[in-house]
Amino acid sequence: MTVQMDDYIATRAEVRAYLDKALQDANDTSSRELELYDDVKQKLIASGARLIAHYYVHPDIQRLAEETGGIVADSLEMARFGAADTATTLIVAGVSFMGETAKILSPEKRIFMPTLEATCSLDLGCPEETFSEFCDQHSDRTVVVYANTSAAVKARADWVVTSSIAVEVVDALTTRGESIIWAPDRYLGRYVQKQTGADMLLWDSACVVHEEFRLHDLDALMTLHPEAGLLVHPESPDEMIERADAVGSTSQLIEAAVRLPNPTFIVATDKGIFYKMQQQVPDKLLLEAPTRGAGGTCQSCAHCPWMAMNRLSGLNQLLDTWDQRCEIHIDADLGKKAMQPLTRMLDFKATLSA
Ligand code: 13P
Ligand code: SF4
Repeated sequence: MTVQMDDYIATRAEVRAYLDKALQDANDTSSRELELYDDVKQKLIASGARLIAHYYVHPDIQRLAEETGGIVADSLEMARFGAADTATTLIVAGVSFMGETAKILSPEKRIFMPTLEATCSLDLGCPEETFSEFCDQHSDRTVVVYANTSAAVKARADWVVTSSIAVEVVDALTTRGESIIWAPDRYLGRYVQKQTGADMLLWDSACVVHEEFRLHDLDALMTLHPEAGLLVHPESPDEMIERADAVGSTSQLIEAAVRLPNPTFIVATDKGIFYKMQQQVPDKLLLEAPTRGAGGTCQSCAHCPWMAMNRLSGLNQLLDTWDQRCEIHIDADLGKKAMQPLTRMLDFKATLSA
């Protein structure tokens, strides 16, 4: 069952307009950014802050995180690493829900981001008030939300999950006889539902980047590369997921590229992932999965414009000024509520790894 929402459609129109502008700004990045690299690296090391980056941010920032004792990871591992690390100041290069998650899990640490304007269409598509009313209407259900949500939505949830652990968590809840409210990504929700057979009410939101992947043109690409395997992030449309050789979080897709024997992969996720994936499989050919491209409504074409807002110049400015406008603050009571479902996820993950 899917919830139809008129106000979500309005939100989507705003998101599209915002995306166009953000992408234009991101494309203005000049080669001067590269010259900053060494300077920023020295400042970062001297500051003692730890840089935690997502696979979708610019390769220079990923490299910087790796070379300074930080990490490049999927959203689950970013959360786990941030909570476990001893640094008292973390810089999160990603989107706002990732910075907020770090703050919720470590309220005593100072958490900065190069810009707090880097949001996510899933977060925008799930306003807390409407979501809370929806939960109230189905109070007999366990509330499971994707990490790509605001602190307020997390505070309303019983569980937070990321794409790397969603199937396992929902499977465990189903085994306990629980029925579920799922938000916000409908594609990931449907994928989890199919994998687990769970009774799930799905919120109707989507990632504006992944929902642009289409089978259209994929067949032509596969004819050219019959040896290719298809790797798909589960925020993508069902038709892509059904054709995939591997479905999973960003880290799981990189692992699949290593594990599967194919010499070539067509990759349906943000193109930022190619930096780390290619390092792991230097001899394999990696191709971008086709999107609706210029004919589609999304101008981002497999690159998240909010992730693209993380730039070396922004990081440089942050390290010079520690501007308050780049620091994450979360109300203490709200943070305590949001910490419970997040901690549940990390504890569950620890039991899987044990
Ligand atoms: P991962 O948890 O797979 O890193 O995904 C985060 C995300 O925002 C994907 O679009
Ligand atoms: Fe959100 Fe999609 Fe960007 Fe991931 S790629 S941060 S889900 S808009």
